[in-house]
Amino acid sequence: MFQSRVLRSAFQVVPRCAPRARFAPRRQPQFTPRSFSTTPFRLEKDENGEEHDSATTAGQPGESGDHEGQFARTDETVRVEYPEEEDLPRSAPVQGRGGRLRTLASFSLEGRVGVVTGGARGLGLVMAQALVTSGADVALVDMNRVEAVHSAEQLIQNFRNENPGVKRLPKVTAHFCDVSSPTSVNDCIAEIIKTHGKIDNLVTSAGFTENYNAISYPYDRMQKLWSVNVDGTYLFAVGVARHLLERQSPGSIVFIGSMSGAIVNVPQPQAPYNAAKAAVRHLAASLAVEWAHAGIRVNCISPGYMLTALTKKILDDNPDLKKQWTSLIPQGKMGRPEDLMGAVTFLASDASLYVTGADLRVDGGYTNT
Ligand SMILES: NC(=O)c1ccc[n+]([C@@H]2O[C@H](COP(=O)([O-])OP(=O)(O)OC[C@H]3O[C@@H](n4cnc5c(N)ncnc54)[C@H](O)[C@@H]3O)[C@@H](O)[C@H]2O)c1
Repeated sequence: MFQSRVLRSAFQVVPRCAPRARFAPRRQPQFTPRSFSTTPFRLEKDENGEEHDSATTAGQPGESGDHEGQFARTDETVRVEYPEEEDLPRSAPVQGRGGRLRTLASFSLEGRVGVVTGGARGLGLVMAQALVTSGADVALVDMNRVEAVHSAEQLIQNFRNENPGVKRLPKVTAHFCDVSSPTSVNDCIAEIIKTHGKIDNLVTSAGFTENYNAISYPYDRMQKLWSVNVDGTYLFAVGVARHLLERQSPGSIVFIGSMSGAIVNVPQPQAPYNAAKAAVRHLAASLAVEWAHAGIRVNCISPGYMLTALTKKILDDNPDLKKQWTSLIPQGKMGRPEDLMGAVTFLASDASLYVTGADLRVDGGYTNT
């Protein structure tokens, strides 16, 4: 993607300086005498609690030390541009997630056709694997056609290895689409229906993040980010819902949002991404209400920090970020793509028939603190 881009992939964290030092130079030790017209409310100190006043709104910024707010700030020196395709390693299906353990029949997706956008790689690929393992045929949709074809073959091979002697192999196909283009989305949905006969489930994982501080975020890149993350989710959902309504068939749609749609994770600045994922989350709720009468459910999964090819590369280049990220996660660990397999199967299947408009956070507890 971004073929026309001049900038190549770049992950950089400019050496850090204390945010406090940049934004709030240490103030003069002397307070300005109070006056009715200029005195800020925070200078109203409680005489009995002076020792702790500096840590309240009575204190000036930085008065109780440089630590103030330091774990809750974005750091504008963290800058990450989404890399070119060839700079990201391939993803592979995870091993050992198939097999024959008994589970609830309502989790089965036998006879269903699922579509996964962004399914060539990363979270999308592993969630597609969860659908295949649960009995569905799957269409992988991606801008990277070559990678999608490779991943489709891998999914079938993986299924064969984990289910020796199985009579019917799943049908897994690869389809090109730029999810931000209405024409491309409509053509792609028509191609999938022609190939598979129908669509029952949709998972929208096509999306990406970049990190720039808001002041210097290039406008064209911001538009691209929103068009893939928000428009792409909307366009695919509407296309699949239209098909389900025409078929008068129930279905389940799962949007991949992010914990960043509910909270502002730090330190990397990413205001447009956060806003895009908030839109995705609320779009799920809104469409859930709009299509509930037709038995079409729409839910959102909001992952926390998951170790994919992209996040791995970011952390390889910025080891400091790993410590900061994991120190803010109650479970203390990042998630793996396979940690989404159960969540997506639950929401796609009849196990969640009475769940719609929900946001399922899979984030190690990040958004609880
Ligand atoms: N990795 C994480 O930690 C994390 C956390 C929270 C949310 N998410 C979200 O999960 C989703 C998947 O993330 P990932 O880490 O697997 O990313 P990834 O880059 O590994 O995979 C994204 C896939 O989407 C495809 N894609 C990008 N733009 C597209 C377009 N316009 N049309 C069609 N396909 C397109 C890419 O080719 C790629 O195959 C994204 O929406 C991301 O925002 C990821």
